Amino acid sequence: MPDLSVEFAGLRLRSPLIAASAGITGNTERLKRAQDHGVGSVVMKTVFQEPLMANSPTPRFAIIQRKAGTNRSTTLYSYEQGYEYGIEAYCEEIRKAKRSLDIPIIASVGGLDDETWTKWGRMVEEAGADAIELNLSCPHGAIVLHQTNRIAEVIDHNVRLMKRTVRIPVIAKMTPQMSDPSVVARIIEEAGADAATMFSRFPGLDIDVEAERPVLHGGTAGHGGPWAIHYALYWINLTHPHLSIPISGCGGVINGEDVVKYILAGATTVQTAMAIYMQGYEVIDRLNKELAAWMDRHGHVTLADFRGSLHGRVKTMAEVDRRKVVRARIDQEKCTGCGICERVCIYFATGHEGKRYEIGEKCDGCGLCPQLCPQDCITMVTR
Ligand SMILES: Cc1cc2nc3c(=O)[nH]c(=O)nc-3n(C[C@H](O)[C@H](O)[C@H](O)COP(=O)(O)O)c2cc1C
Repeated sequence: MPDLSVEFAGLRLRSPLIAASAGITGNTERLKRAQDHGVGSVVMKTVFQEPLMANSPTPRFAIIQRKAGTNRSTTLYSYEQGYEYGIEAYCEEIRKAKRSLDIPIIASVGGLDDETWTKWGRMVEEAGADAIELNLSCPHGAIVLHQTNRIAEVIDHNVRLMKRTVRIPVIAKMTPQMSDPSVVARIIEEAGADAATMFSRFPGLDIDVEAERPVLHGGTAGHGGPWAIHYALYWINLTHPHLSIPISGCGGVINGEDVVKYILAGATTVQTAMAIYMQGYEVIDRLNKELAAWMDRHGHVTLADFRGSLHGRVKTMAEVDRRKVVRARIDQEKCTGCGICERVCIYFATGHEGKRYEIGEKCDGCGLCPQLCPQDCITMVTR
């Protein structure tokens, strides 16, 4: 059995999987459930200074499925606000959780002014939190809604402030809503943070076209989905080689392969909220199992064996081989003559006689039609 344990921001975790801050980590019962299913740590639901952020409307979730032919994409669109009962109750919840959990507990705080950031930082530390994640990233919060143009400055200020205030590790959670996350991650490091979480979710909007109004509660919302992982992998891969503090990868995890991808790109831990919301806490067992099975298959004993190993394997613009070496070919035995390959080919390389389809010399080798063929009868072959 490979060793899944990891050192993260001064904390020793039995698994790199962390239940991300959300309703799924909203009280001790839920934190315990996450622990029982194998997370290495939990980030508690954020307690916000903004009074409006303490109350969530009902309902507050929409699972948006968009279909294009046989392809579909899933978005978890939601308007869940912060911890409901205020900072005193939050600290009581930390004390309670510390009594019933063995894994490190990370508090999550979202302040608006220095006084509250420092007061609440001290309070969660005194209550026993093992670390604090600064929520500077909420898609409903004032920072993302009104201050993204000065996000680097806001993050720098608040990380420095919190580092002067508490002795427990400080983790800065980043919004994906910025132009160059690698620059901001370096600012986070220079400000003294012990880790950076990349990322929270994007602000978003969906519209009911019949009612001509926003869906759900009638406002904007946070949105994410399995598709969000590509954005996070891109930036973690770029950032990791230049950062000495660990990165917690977050966004779009649905299976063990996704966890592997985050670690290959350079993440030390991997956070998930959506997978738990949509598949239950049991999904954590599966993610750990799939990660371990992949490590076994690849002969990796520890996470450090492959962390960040993608670095150097991502080709630059200049390195990409642009020769046209392959083209598509149809297996006539399997083809049912549905005609999708002809409809989608922008090179007009596909023609047919009756139900017999063929791809001709004009094929540019783009590789799209094999993936759209419902019969799986097109392959790419050497020219
Ligand atoms: C319903 C919901 C509530 C969330 N609440 C919080 C929160 O209170 N604080 C926070 O830092 N992030 C919050 N998040 C963001 C998650 O912690 C996580 O960063 C994000 O969902 C991306 O991970 P995922 O794709 O695994 O969901 C929330 C996400 C969801 C879906």
